[in-house]
Amino acid sequence: MTVDLAVRNCTVVTPSGRVADAGVAVDDGTIVAVGRSDQLPEAERTLDADGNVLVPGIVDCHIHNREPGLEYKEDWETATRAAAAGGVTTVVGMPNTDPVIDRPDHLELKLERGEASAHVDFGSYVVVTSENVDEIGALDEAGALGYKVFLGSTVGDVPPPSDGEIIEAMERIQETGKRLGFHEENGEIIDYYTERFQTEGRNEPIDHAHSRPVIAEREAVERMITFAEETGAKIHMFHVSSGSAAEAVARGKDRGVDVTAETCPHYLWFTEEVLREKGNVARVQPPIRDADEHERLWSVGIDDGAIDCIATDHAPHTSDEKMVDDPFGNTWDAISGFVGLETEVPAMLTFVDQGRLSLEEWVYRHATRPAQVWGLYPQKGSLQVGTDADFTIVDPDREWTLEDADELHSKSRVTPFEGESFVGDAVTTVVRGEIVYDDGAVVGDSGYGTAVGLE
Ligand code: DOR
Ligand code: ZN
Repeated sequence: MTVDLAVRNCTVVTPSGRVADAGVAVDDGTIVAVGRSDQLPEAERTLDADGNVLVPGIVDCHIHNREPGLEYKEDWETATRAAAAGGVTTVVGMPNTDPVIDRPDHLELKLERGEASAHVDFGSYVVVTSENVDEIGALDEAGALGYKVFLGSTVGDVPPPSDGEIIEAMERIQETGKRLGFHEENGEIIDYYTERFQTEGRNEPIDHAHSRPVIAEREAVERMITFAEETGAKIHMFHVSSGSAAEAVARGKDRGVDVTAETCPHYLWFTEEVLREKGNVARVQPPIRDADEHERLWSVGIDDGAIDCIATDHAPHTSDEKMVDDPFGNTWDAISGFVGLETEVPAMLTFVDQGRLSLEEWVYRHATRPAQVWGLYPQKGSLQVGTDADFTIVDPDREWTLEDADELHSKSRVTPFEGESFVGDAVTTVVRGEIVYDDGAVVGDSGYGTAVGLE
């Protein structure tokens, strides 16, 4: 039998372990064999992986692709070009676009646009507001991969539903089998401090961080866990930024609540000192925390396992919106968020190099677990025979520095990771058997990516 593609000469790593001198064989876009290089079938095309590491394709379930409506910041083509270059094979887009993704026709528009131009596979969340709690069934049929509520004000200003509506939404979403995720910051707390700091003239980037204190995050996590305990809903905490919030997640898991959580590389890499060093470039919501919270995020979130997934919260904005020319200017004039798709794999591999987690633990959190949490497993996030041939080949030893963020493929190149040094990088990205990125170049076609999770 001759198959379409064989990758040889790599170490294959999955959450259950690693095999050296191995590879994978692909036919018709699916995996047909994983095993020793010399036992793989003949192939039309052979890729020599040069002794590098091959893992299930990285799944990033938190990006802001900005299309429809905010294409001046980013669009499906540029976001998924960046994903391919970053070693990411599936992305899930957030609903704070224009229009916001809150109706079946808006979701269909977003997925159509993705079909037309994406380089890698993709899905979308639907936002739950006071207006659409009763429409969950129709939204589900239209292809929602999951749902999101913005509890506190953030970019896009989508107002939160009332607590009663959230409980109702949990009950309805539970009937669909899907999960409801949160931007978990208590809106009343952050609005209070934001106004107070503005009145007091506290205008520095670090003041923005302190205006959104840890208690706002912790309280939101605990309240949603309480609601889920009552309703039996599956819930998810996006972008957990603090040890205190990770501890709250751990307590929820201990109580038997189906609560999953993600954190982002920037919370694991930086402490709030980065706001004093790099200014508004590093402004993000929730904010990057102090050293104590950062360390407890590592110990409770990663070492003890409260955090299920890694995702970027890739949030592109223009240089003007990020005040790149005046990074320490009045923080209330700057916007929150920055790009991350091309630095997430290098950042995580750097942590592996530092001995903070193993390759297996990284792959679990960055491919397998996110696919499980959002209902895409084992089609995504596994290397099982018969599933999509999505994989990422990484060089775990490559030492490099992001000298100039203009090398990135996103429309926006603003990131606090500019100037940071890494050990490890994505080398090749394969989506359903097609090489979409190899050796520094995006080689796949725009429009190849397809929507996931549709029945
Ligand atoms: O910093 C952020 N940026 N936090 C969010 O919640 C939204 C995001 C964005 O859309 O830019
Ligand atoms: Zn986000």
